[in-house]
Amino acid sequence: MTLEDLQQDIRRLDVELVNCLDRRFQLARRLAALKREGGLPPPDLGQAEAFLTELPGWSDGSTPPASLERFWRLLLSDTLALEEEALSDLAEGNLLPPTTRAKRRFPARIRENIHLGPELVWLRLTFSHPPYFQPGQFFQLGLAPNQTDPFLARPFAPVAHFPDGLAFVFTRTGRGTRFLANLPPGTELGLLAPLGNSYRLEGQENTAVLLGGGVGGPSLAPLAAALCSRKVETILFLGARDSRRLPDRGLFPTDLEVHYATDDGSRGFSGHLPAALAAWRQGAGKGRSFRLYACGPLPLLKAVAAFARLEGIDCQVSMEERMACGLGACAGCAVPLGGNYQRVCREGPVFMAGQVEWDKL
Ligand SMILES: Cc1cc2nc3c(=O)[nH]c(=O)nc-3n(C[C@H](O)[C@H](O)[C@H](O)COP(=O)(O)OP(=O)(O)OC[C@H]3O[C@@H](n4cnc5c(N)ncnc54)[C@H](O)[C@@H]3O)c2cc1C
Ligand code: FES
Repeated sequence: MTLEDLQQDIRRLDVELVNCLDRRFQLARRLAALKREGGLPPPDLGQAEAFLTELPGWSDGSTPPASLERFWRLLLSDTLALEEEALSDLAEGNLLPPTTRAKRRFPARIRENIHLGPELVWLRLTFSHPPYFQPGQFFQLGLAPNQTDPFLARPFAPVAHFPDGLAFVFTRTGRGTRFLANLPPGTELGLLAPLGNSYRLEGQENTAVLLGGGVGGPSLAPLAAALCSRKVETILFLGARDSRRLPDRGLFPTDLEVHYATDDGSRGFSGHLPAALAAWRQGAGKGRSFRLYACGPLPLLKAVAAFARLEGIDCQVSMEERMACGLGACAGCAVPLGGNYQRVCREGPVFMAGQVEWDKL
């Protein structure tokens, strides 16, 4: 087989993948509708089997590759589980329509793609049906839905929502994010959402301290809003290399206390975020009980986890790992946790800091 044959095969599989995702969502919606009418038993792998036989190209008797078959089984059983969960929410009086909670592909259009500073970009997307998400969850943003290059979708956390869509703030780091930063308004993109778990909002302490380093800062905005709306006293620490790289204050609710830390001292505390937190603990934060949430680069998470362990404070961290599928199928994003490995995209990205084996990372 030549390289060209292989590339052609990949392109064909990619088209099949997109078709299959569409089929999967249609099927899941049909199942959900049938279940609402009381016509179907709970989902099981038998349904996945039935679905697999319907896959385009595979119904002609050819055998799907084992890894892909496993992948589809995972996808399907996951969608069914989510539909089930959504239906029970509905039964308990949650008014969100079930299909908006299930993982699915959302076509979107770029409304704004604005360069905010040296590296940060504000990306606002519009949707006909904006996806539902909880603070901490992320989206896989397909950069070129009609091409295969860049092939893999990139994970991003939403920072704001509007009646017609959502916004992200991202840093131009590599090929995909530089490509995304140059797409003009009007470009169509595809998102897979919502993915991963979310922050636990409840806790014994009625004060929450949030630490966001670099581009992790803006992604804490939905969490800050959710905590403030629950009347949790929220204190936010934002850190960056310099003041030009700090997130816009306007992203966050007005009723929270904000502290800044910059490496060059151009705004707020001069130094890293963990040092700013430690200084606050010695002063205004002395004797106070609170829980911690952190999002940002690994050294920040490690330092915050060490601080939390020392002080005996509950701490949740949102972790980042290189991701390929973003759906739990490739295990590329696994991190050592509690004597085992957990997938950041599936069991995470939010973990209790005390369970992560930081020295192995
Ligand atoms: C749960 C989660 C939420 C995130 N939210 C944001 C956000 O809101 N804003 C933001 O700027 N960045 C965020 N990131 C990081 C962002 O996904 C990466 O910066 C981006 O994927 C890099 O893509 P690239 O093509 O520019 O880099 P390249 O290095 O060219 O990417 C090559 C491949 O590696 C993957 N990859 C590289 N770096 C990362 C990374 N740090 N995390 C995951 N995959 C990576 C890419 O997806 C791609 O498949 C998040 C990451 C995760 C895991
Ligand atoms: S990115 Fe594939 S399992 Fe997490």
